[in-house]
Amino acid sequence: LTDTVTRLYPLPPREIPAGSIYADLELPPHRRHDPGRPYVIINMVGSVDGKTSVDGKAAGLGSRIDRQTMRNLRARADAVMIGANTLRAEKLSLGLDDTRGPQPLAVVVTASGELPLDNLLLPERQKLLVIGPQPVVGRFGPERALAIPASPSGTIDLEAALSALRTEYAVELLLVEGGPTLNHALISAGLADELFRTVAPTLVGPTHGEAVHERLPTEPSPASLRSVYLADNELFLRYALQPDHQTNNYS
Ligand SMILES: NC(=O)c1ccc[n+]([C@@H]2O[C@H](COP(=O)([O-])OP(=O)(O)OC[C@H]3O[C@@H](n4cnc5c(N)ncnc54)[C@H](OP(=O)(O)O)[C@@H]3O)[C@@H](O)[C@H]2O)c1
Repeated sequence: LTDTVTRLYPLPPREIPAGSIYADLELPPHRRHDPGRPYVIINMVGSVDGKTSVDGKAAGLGSRIDRQTMRNLRARADAVMIGANTLRAEKLSLGLDDTRGPQPLAVVVTASGELPLDNLLLPERQKLLVIGPQPVVGRFGPERALAIPASPSGTIDLEAALSALRTEYAVELLLVEGGPTLNHALISAGLADELFRTVAPTLVGPTHGEAVHERLPTEPSPASLRSVYLADNELFLRYALQPDHQTNNYS
């Protein structure tokens, strides 16, 4: 694997060390309009044909460099959030490799409360928060539960959840790591600020995983390209999702 990567955009192209993609971003941006919720960034890896998993698991889609970029974003985040299906899909960590410092809050969103918590590898010092409707999250104990108003089917108000994360847990930067259902619920509600999308150099095919386009919001929403990096065959794309964002941290 390469030790340097090329930033293709913004122009002009330049080489940077492979481990430094997204390492020095100003997140959240200083001069942003404060909507009363955390700054929300989504990070996902997908195949060339838009699939986000192979045999139901995301592990293995991205390269070593993709995992490093994920860690670079996590290192900035106050909390890392996933949907319950992602936790049910495979064992995963939402923490930092360096266990000496503070860890981002690990957040799982659920309507059913069916969470195989053994699948979550929590490093020392990482706290878990389960967000869902009151009757469901109560069973995880007061330290680990954030109850949010929900529809009769259990779908919680994500805007209220984000607002509570900000006011009750001091989350200024929220990193969302999927899956597609949670990502697009946030995007279609206008609650996501940026999308970091890795295009892994592989085609998964029609029988595996789920195409990203199947979960696009019914109303197309604009995405404005902020940066592109190329590492071997793998592309790292950064998009701003809110038209009024005036971030200028392209590095
Ligand atoms: N390529 C990648 O970067 C990547 C990243 C993550 C995941 N994945 C893959 O994506 C797949 C899982 O994604 P997915 O789209 O099926 O599911 P998901 O987004 O991980 O989870 C969906 C679940 O989250 C809960 N949820 C989401 N929004 C909610 C709301 N507003 N209120 C209450 N609960 C809410 C519900 O949990 P309950 O069902 O408990 O009610 C819902 O069924 C797996 O195959 C995983 O490997 C890929």
